[in-house]
Amino acid sequence: MTTSSSSSTSKLNISCYESLDNAELAERIRRVKAEMGPRLLILGHHYQRDEVIELADLRGDSYGLSEQAANNKDCEAIVFCGVHFMAETADMLANRPERLAERDGRRVPVVLPDLEAGCSLADMAETNQVERCWAELAEVIDIDDVTPITYVNSTAGVKAFCGRRGGIVCTSANARAALDWAFRQRGRVLFFPDQHLGRNTARAMGIPLEQMPLWNPKQPALGGIPTEAVRRAKVILWQGFCCVHQRFTPHDVAHFRAKYPDIKIIVHPECMMEVADMADAVGSTSFIIRAIEQSPPGTRWAVGTEQNLVHRLRREYPDQEIHLLSDKPSICKTMSMIDLPRLCWSVETLAAGAPANVIEVEPETARWALEALKRMLEVR
Ligand code: 13P
Ligand code: SF4
Repeated sequence: MTTSSSSSTSKLNISCYESLDNAELAERIRRVKAEMGPRLLILGHHYQRDEVIELADLRGDSYGLSEQAANNKDCEAIVFCGVHFMAETADMLANRPERLAERDGRRVPVVLPDLEAGCSLADMAETNQVERCWAELAEVIDIDDVTPITYVNSTAGVKAFCGRRGGIVCTSANARAALDWAFRQRGRVLFFPDQHLGRNTARAMGIPLEQMPLWNPKQPALGGIPTEAVRRAKVILWQGFCCVHQRFTPHDVAHFRAKYPDIKIIVHPECMMEVADMADAVGSTSFIIRAIEQSPPGTRWAVGTEQNLVHRLRREYPDQEIHLLSDKPSICKTMSMIDLPRLCWSVETLAAGAPANVIEVEPETARWALEALKRMLEVR
């Protein structure tokens, strides 16, 4: 157990909030924001519902929100409208030793409005599986020549594993920079948990697929990879994926290209390689937003990422034609668990001095995870 949380969402409390309409909830949240001013920081990931994003002080991608949590000096509490690994990351950065010293040891509580809001991709690499992988690799290759890189979508325990071994955390916004950094340290990389981000980024650097074997943690030996392939490897990928992004297919891209020959396809790097290869551009959620923001009116897009963001882009840039790159929904169910009843409950319990659902990473785990997180913030 690397994270503790102060309490779970009380069904009774939440049901009182659930009976209120959104207008009243928004009004109550605004009242707490006005009372607390800059002492309260509400962070919202781009995949959040619109009504939540409207009340967030800052919205961003994983990288940007980590930076906000790391740099903000005014806030006394953070409510993180996102998923569990994001709140863990914010807790570690906001409460790192330098910051605690500046505040005479006072912690900034980081609240996740629903403790069930996890990330299935992050759960695909467990610390013990990663440790076993490392031990097995050490029997076949020089392990001192391997840098572990974990995508920020991972548990604090997995981040600590990387920190202990001179590794780094990356986000979709700085994966290329993290890989460049890793290859300046050592000759090989173990990249987890998202195979697609690892493969798409390493391929763009010119690393051939034959040097990127896929480690399956469920296989009894060497992740199911032949010994020779491990010895040849430059980047060992982990068999993890995001179920939201893996849904976009080459067929979807072909469909949109056939229907609209002038369309621009832009996708998140968690999409499979075959989709990324066919796209005009690949990048993080902030990259996608910037690309659309900077395009002339009349540009036609098909966007391969979570639908809350795509639908918001469509509303915010009505002079462009924006499609979701699929005829099926692409909703991240756990991101959507954060709603106005939970946000209102979170801010009101905080304002009353009894914050609930506080995410606090156990100190020894945080110490090592921070080693890898600080490198992430340095290599952009
Ligand atoms: P970003 O780092 O682009 O915000 O993406 C996070 C995420 O969870 C994508 O599925
Ligand atoms: Fe995790 Fe995918 Fe949801 Fe992102 S979209 S939080 S990777 S499940």
